[in-house]
Amino acid sequence: MGAILFDRTRPAMLGLKRVSVDPLGRDRGVASVMVGVAEDVAEERGMDGIWLHVREELPDNIRFWSHRHYLPVRQDGTTIEMGKTLWLAREVPDADAMRDLAARVATLLRAGDLLVLTGDLGAGKTTFTQGLGEALGVRGPVTSPTFVIARTHPSEVGGPALVHVDAYRLGSAAEIDDIDLDATTEDSVTVVEWGAGMAEQLSDSWLSIAIETRAASPGDPLGTASGVESDEMRVVTIRPRGRRWLGVPLRSTLLG
Ligand SMILES: Nc1ncnc2c1ncn2[C@@H]1O[C@H](COP(=O)(O)OP(=O)(O)OP(=O)(O)O)[C@@H](O)[C@H]1O
Ligand SMILES: [Mg+2]
Repeated sequence: MGAILFDRTRPAMLGLKRVSVDPLGRDRGVASVMVGVAEDVAEERGMDGIWLHVREELPDNIRFWSHRHYLPVRQDGTTIEMGKTLWLAREVPDADAMRDLAARVATLLRAGDLLVLTGDLGAGKTTFTQGLGEALGVRGPVTSPTFVIARTHPSEVGGPALVHVDAYRLGSAAEIDDIDLDATTEDSVTVVEWGAGMAEQLSDSWLSIAIETRAASPGDPLGTASGVESDEMRVVTIRPRGRRWLGVPLRSTLLG
């Protein structure tokens, strides 16, 4: 009912060519399923992203890919190249591993970047931010900004500052505007805890970092043996959003 050709001429990137669906199978989600499989294949092969070409005169096709977070990369005549950086999920067994993961993320960051952290109380958002701060070489300590909503940690190595925001007590998107982050975000790396749905308006591009706590093991249904401070498995899902992350080797840097 449908076909896609894979183009493997570019390193770490999977090209999709001649994506086609039998007219009888149209509007049944066949194309979506095929794209999902192609993305799975790219992930299994350790690739960072996907590229493809669409024709300018086929806006429905462009919409199809845009809807799946593919973005225009360049245009050559009426041919538009679209691309997507793939997301990743990683198991993080303890707080040190969380800081290590953040240190790897830090190698990809530059001034103006925005990270939106989500996860329940005690998931490890501040722990992640600490790892980021250490790796960026900013003045610490990075702690939960409980009594201030935003705290700036200046760089001690001539790099970008780290602006650490706790949006937990912010009621609305309007309030994040009130704290006037715009003035600082351009020359800083900004991390917002609890910022999903609010912080995104600060930038066209951001990294969404979701931390999930694994359900307690069957032998310890309430997780009582572990306690808050002890090490516990987390699953961290990192999703790139926006042009900033096109072509960034997210998976090979964070999984390799
Ligand atoms: N795998 C893990 N990753 C991160 N932290 C872990 C892990 N296992 C245990 N911990 C512990 O969980 C706690 C996480 O606290 P942290 O303040 O980072 O969470 P938070 O998400 O910022 O919480 P809050 O919502 O209150 O801001 C720390 O005490 C940390 O040592
Ligand atoms: Mg916190």
